[in-house]
Amino acid sequence: MNQAANNQTRIFLKFPNRDEASKFAAEIFYIAYTKFENLLFGTATGQTPVKIYEYFIEMMETVAGSENDLTFRQLDNYISPGAKKGELPFYSYQTELENSVWKVPHLDAYVPYEWMNPEAEVGRYKTIIEATNKWASYFIQLLGIGDKDGHIAFNMPGDAFDSTVHVVDLNQETIEANANKFFGGDTTKVPKKAITSGIADILEANAIVMAGFGKAKADIMHRSFFGEVTTDVPASALQTHDGILFVILDEESASVIAEKEGESVFANPEDIDIWEIL
Ligand code: PGA
Repeated sequence: MNQAANNQTRIFLKFPNRDEASKFAAEIFYIAYTKFENLLFGTATGQTPVKIYEYFIEMMETVAGSENDLTFRQLDNYISPGAKKGELPFYSYQTELENSVWKVPHLDAYVPYEWMNPEAEVGRYKTIIEATNKWASYFIQLLGIGDKDGHIAFNMPGDAFDSTVHVVDLNQETIEANANKFFGGDTTKVPKKAITSGIADILEANAIVMAGFGKAKADIMHRSFFGEVTTDVPASALQTHDGILFVILDEESASVIAEKEGESVFANPEDIDIWEIL
């Protein structure tokens, strides 16, 4: 664990594989739920969180008689006129999470959607962000990262760090990546726009859990947390976050950090008392 110049506590953790890493990440959210009365869980999209959600759901099955409340707030979503709810990959996680944590006495979940009027949706979502931030006794945000450009949510290189909810045109690289992940490689099926929370909305979190696995993320993980803070690398904004930052990696995604910064950067997961840190 190291204390950055600002008030950030940074914890880099490296696991032998993504399964163990995902389990640890899920535990952070589970412990946050058990610790805080009104937990705001900022959910992320992409492939990285899938296993984390699976473990989280499994852990939540063990919650008995908790009075604590939980709100999920999704970071972003495609704008895809005409698509039905279930056809969007981002909805399926949300629905699964909502349906699975039924033991939570009062559960809310918010997803930015759009269809007819994206600009009106920006306004609606800003209001939701304000209201849920006010409601929460603790806000914890899960994040993935764009392999090459370090985007977080749909905040792309060049986007200001003080941005809030906005509509974005997806760049070709993101369209191609999403085509491969969700649309069988067919770029024509990928929506060309999205609605996203801004970097400023992300930085409001008390704790941020950044997860990224595999070789393709090794370089950007190093640039984001040990490189210059610049809008060219959106995730580098996280260096300016005042709060708790967990960076959860596997051997591959940690490889450039390990090589350039040394093994001592990584904390031993067994030494981490999540309850105390949150
Ligand atoms: P991934 O996407 O989790 O599917 O790698 C992360 C992102 O592009 O934000």
